[in-house]
Amino acid sequence: MSHLVITGGAGFIGSNFVNWLCREHPEHDLVVVDLLTYAGNLANLESVLDQVRFEKADIADADTMRGILDGAVGVINFAAESHVDRSLESAAPFLHSNVTGVQVLLDLVRELGIPRFLQIGTDEVYGSTPADVRFSEGDHLNPSSPYAASKASADLLVNAAVRTWGVPALITRASNNYGPWQFPEKLIPLMITNIVEGRPLPVYGDGLQTREWLHVIDHCTAVWAVWTGGEIGTIYNVGTGNDVANIDLVQGLIDLLGASEDLITYVEDRPGHDRRYALDISRLTTELGWQPQISLEEGLNGTIEWYRQNRAWWESIKSGEYREYYERMYGDRDQPAE
Ligand code: NAD
Ligand code: TYD
Repeated sequence: MSHLVITGGAGFIGSNFVNWLCREHPEHDLVVVDLLTYAGNLANLESVLDQVRFEKADIADADTMRGILDGAVGVINFAAESHVDRSLESAAPFLHSNVTGVQVLLDLVRELGIPRFLQIGTDEVYGSTPADVRFSEGDHLNPSSPYAASKASADLLVNAAVRTWGVPALITRASNNYGPWQFPEKLIPLMITNIVEGRPLPVYGDGLQTREWLHVIDHCTAVWAVWTGGEIGTIYNVGTGNDVANIDLVQGLIDLLGASEDLITYVEDRPGHDRRYALDISRLTTELGWQPQISLEEGLNGTIEWYRQNRAWWESIKSGEYREYYERMYGDRDQPAE
């Protein structure tokens, strides 16, 4: 069999990774697993579905996953509940996928003797970063949201499996991603699609929180660098140094799309909102020779172009289940401007 299993492969980053891998390294025999929750979409894999085997499954379902993982050369786990705001509404799905699901995968990797497991993690596990500091992999975990706490739990479970059982696992911790196929609940696709639709742009609090933006294709090359060259039991931060305040990013998107600033609407802040994320990525750059290749300007222009050309993709999302969620979150603020 000797297949490589990509879990969460129909979500934003997972599907970009599968598409990228099919293009750049087509020799691999891929099995893509996804539960197809609200964020999973087979349309993201449309152009490669004849090159991969797709299995709709829950990573927390040990019996089903045993059959899929048996004989695999490795597992790269992108599957997760991924949106902070949703985790504030209900933590339960986050514990199921991000904690129980990861432990189930680790147990199976051990039981089946799978040679390599990569857990895709996040910078949010470090919590808010003080000004002039960039967190390194050894810094302590201080997550603020149920989402971040569930991802920190996963990282701890991975490390425990490495130490206790010698499970051959590694972890990446990436900063905020953007690019094609990102579900329009996250900042960049929400703002782009709202601008295109002439809807208000909800900026939380004072908008001076900063995030470190990483194009999803740069994330894919980093994941591959760690998958092919990383050391077992090691954590690798993935970032760019592109630290931008939310309001500046929103303003930049308005400028690139030629829209009006009047769309900006300051709304109540997110509870427990982390002020700043910033990573020290020297381990990845010095030990594995990785560097990001896509500048923020180039990446945002390409992303805007993608959302312009794939309007049917996001319009169908925005008019479905997501509509209900959005109305619950923002009420009638989400109306086209006068
Ligand atoms: P996403 O929400 O777009 O995709 C997650 C995918 O996982 C979806 O397709 C969903 O159907 C699937 N999934 C969820 N629970 C599952 C389960 N129990 N079994 C099988 N599949 C399941 O998220 P994303 O933005 O693509 O994030 C992917 C990974 O990268 C996550 O682990 C996330 O924590 C991490 N990450 C994301 C970012 C970011 O900016 N988006 C940054 C750093 C790390
Ligand atoms: P988000 O894309 O949800 O990612 P994360 O919370 O995981 O960093 O949000 C990015 C930043 O944008 C974060 O500081 C919250 C802010 N934000 C808004 O100001 N308005 C919005 O409508 C959303 C979704 C996010």
